[in-house]
Amino acid sequence: MRIVIVYGSDKAQAWRDAIAAHLRDAQVDIWHPGFTQQADYAVGWTPPPQFFIDQPRLRAFFSTGAGVEHVLNNPNLPADLPIVRVEDAGMGEQMVDYCRFEVLRWMQRRDEYAAQQAAGIWKPLSASFRDEWPIGVFGLGVLGRHVAKAFASDGYPVHAFSRSSTASEPGVRLFCEANGSDQFEAFMRATRVLMILAPLTAATYNKFDRKALQMLPRGACVINVARGGLIVDDALLELLDNGHLNGAALDVFHHEPLPRQHRYWNHPKVHITPHTAAVTPIRPAAKQIAEKIRQVASNQPTTGLVERRRGY
Ligand code: NAP
Ligand code: GLV
Repeated sequence: MRIVIVYGSDKAQAWRDAIAAHLRDAQVDIWHPGFTQQADYAVGWTPPPQFFIDQPRLRAFFSTGAGVEHVLNNPNLPADLPIVRVEDAGMGEQMVDYCRFEVLRWMQRRDEYAAQQAAGIWKPLSASFRDEWPIGVFGLGVLGRHVAKAFASDGYPVHAFSRSSTASEPGVRLFCEANGSDQFEAFMRATRVLMILAPLTAATYNKFDRKALQMLPRGACVINVARGGLIVDDALLELLDNGHLNGAALDVFHHEPLPRQHRYWNHPKVHITPHTAAVTPIRPAAKQIAEKIRQVASNQPTTGLVERRRGY
């Protein structure tokens, strides 16, 4: 079996070695422009357009990330090539940590205390408690479930929104698009911290526009750890500026790196991280991908197979 790694960063070698360690009978190479040997399977992130022209005999592409729009948007992606994505592999607990950190920062008014400290001011501010911070998780998939379960077990009121799933988690109230058009507004109105954890698809692109964000109650906060394309930036900025929203923690953006002149950089209510909320840990993910490759190669069912029609 021949496997090719396509990874546009210095992590390519680490991925090659980790995959090779789990598939000892396979020949594993790193793709580069001009690499012409034909592989059966590809493992990678953001393959360049030339990659699929150079590799016409692939039997499947394995995404090292949970999101797959970086593959689906490739103009040369063959229409029938199966795409399989990594599931969790340690990203769920990172998402939980990221969201917990941001919620505590708002709940405990840490930005305000930091400003007071800088000014040498000793002034206790009014406190609030977990039951006053209803969490709304948009996208109750592999990662959203981790986050929803963690906040529910921490004692926050938690509700979630999914496209079609009707199975929730203990302590998590589920709203579902398939149950009617009023579900989304009810979900948003009940939310004090919106956590966006759904994939970028034709249906979710610009989902959080002015009308949607205004459904959040006054003083609500937004965490986006999915993809920047789900939020209309001007709408979010307007609602932060006019006081309707109290804060935003943004890990992902329409254009990455976030352009230096973007208003998010210097906005006092915005916390920015450079798409690092959940980094794929190479060793556990390579073990999972190797197992998926073995399953596909032996015509066994595997999980994480992307449904092209729905876009995730
Ligand atoms: P997943 O298991 O596929 O879950 C996706 C969830 O979103 C499902 O609950 C799905 O509903 C829901 N959904 C899809 N389309 C929807 C729509 N139009 N309206 C409402 N809900 C919708 O994906 P995952 O593994 O949890 O990953 C989620 C996303 O996180 C990825 O796609 C990626 O973009 C992002 N991510 C970001 C980072 C980072 O570092 N920032 C790291 C990893 C992943 P159903 O249950 O009904 O299918
Ligand atoms: C990262 O953004 C991923 O989709 O895994």
